[in-house]
Amino acid sequence: MKELSLPATGTATTVTFAKKLPKAYDALLVPVFKGEDGLELAASGQFSEDIDVSIWELLSTVGATGKAEEITRIPAIEGVDADFIVAVGLGDSEKLDDETLRRASAVAARSLKDVETAVTTLGIFGIQPVTEGSVLGAYSYTGQKSETGSTPVSTITVLGEGKTAKDEFERGLIAAEAVNLARDLVNAPSSHLYPESYATVITEVAKTYGLDVDVRDEKKLVKQGFGGVLAVGMGSSRKPRLVQLRYQPKKAKKHVSFVGKGITFDTGGISLKPGANMDQMISDMGGSAAVIATAVAAARLKLDIAVTVTVALAENMPDGEAFRPGDVITHYNGTTTEVLNTDAEGRLVLADGLALASEEKPDYLIDCATLTGAQIIALGDRTSGIMGDADFAAQLATIGQKVGEQAWAMPLPEELTEALKSPVADLRNITPQRSGGMLSAGCFLKEFVGESITWAHVDIAGPSFNTSAAYGYTPMRATGVPVRTFVAFLESL
Ligand code: BES
Ligand code: ZN
Ligand code: ZN
Repeated sequence: MKELSLPATGTATTVTFAKKLPKAYDALLVPVFKGEDGLELAASGQFSEDIDVSIWELLSTVGATGKAEEITRIPAIEGVDADFIVAVGLGDSEKLDDETLRRASAVAARSLKDVETAVTTLGIFGIQPVTEGSVLGAYSYTGQKSETGSTPVSTITVLGEGKTAKDEFERGLIAAEAVNLARDLVNAPSSHLYPESYATVITEVAKTYGLDVDVRDEKKLVKQGFGGVLAVGMGSSRKPRLVQLRYQPKKAKKHVSFVGKGITFDTGGISLKPGANMDQMISDMGGSAAVIATAVAAARLKLDIAVTVTVALAENMPDGEAFRPGDVITHYNGTTTEVLNTDAEGRLVLADGLALASEEKPDYLIDCATLTGAQIIALGDRTSGIMGDADFAAQLATIGQKVGEQAWAMPLPEELTEALKSPVADLRNITPQRSGGMLSAGCFLKEFVGESITWAHVDIAGPSFNTSAAYGYTPMRATGVPVRTFVAFLESL
């Protein structure tokens, strides 16, 4: 891919597919299990029984247990053309699932510091999860740091046999690379990523993957009445944009429209946020990054589904020109909103995006946003809240759980919709009570969804950005959630 106009991207380990063991490589990754009677080594079929037994003996001697995600490094033995062997723990063999494989493959990839080439034989248990885990686990972001210390592994080869294995590899690679693209976008600091520069990056992405792109600049937004995006962007010298991407295959069976929140920095505006951790608000465009990456995956997978992506980009700043509490704004569809808190800005830009996307009457409409701190209070840091049409929300949550992106369906209580009525406008952007903050944001958005369109709203405030140490295939900072959920949903159609 052509380089994007970003200050930095995460480490790009190349993950490739091969049917046969290469001649020479640095590290051989082998799967081990924790059996009732101790360590079990799964025969990869690549080596003679003698060699497998010797590997098992050596691993047992150094105390490998086969516990999930345990990594044990031993010197290579006669007959293995590597420098060393890495045993990757997969836990109880009877309980092995895709998520265990993904996580273990990721931990293994991360452990391969200062290694050039590695070959993994874990694919015998599932090519796609091993590929995804390797690509996702090798990712780390050091941005513009001059000295980064150790270098990550440069190539991981996934061994597999036959056409289906190759297909599974491709699907895993495309999905995981899409996640890494979303991570790159979210990790970019707001010094470098602001509405105009973000629109440039999106245009570059579109050109690379043959997607149609349309950028509405500030003038066009004024002319067409995008009052939500304009109000939120008003306090910044870096003016807002609304960008649409389209993947339009010839014989599309369905049309899925995604809308993403793209606040490139959220200070809260005049309703200023407290200082602690405000830096994390560089990630307030995580929803937009996820839906852009999803469109890229759809195109690369050549799915026969039309995909439209609408992202509303603005920087929420306090300033002499900023919008104020008490202001009344008019959205793209004519609905008016009384702004009671300028920090509840995501719903204002999404409202315009949802109204625009609804005009085409897509079969499915999905919005994605780092929308509320209340999501984190309700569900924690790792579980997305999904609202909207109850069946559809439940369907997406189930897909999320299956691909390892935890998600839970949440209701849209009618009393909260009632509480969003304003005495001076059609709506107000917050309710008088703090309770149910994630849900009232969802209720607000619902008002902008066209009639009889199947809709879901995904709140990723917590899951999009990992503020603690890396775990499984989740690095520090941007996680790329819920790209794989969206890709899996498109594939399911
Ligand atoms: N971007 C925030 C939500 C957020 C909080 C994302 C923490 C990630 C981590 C959003 O714009 C916001 O500030 N929401 C307010 C809404 C409130 C004023 C009703 C919130 O959640 O506090
Ligand atoms: Zn906010
Ligand atoms: Zn925000």
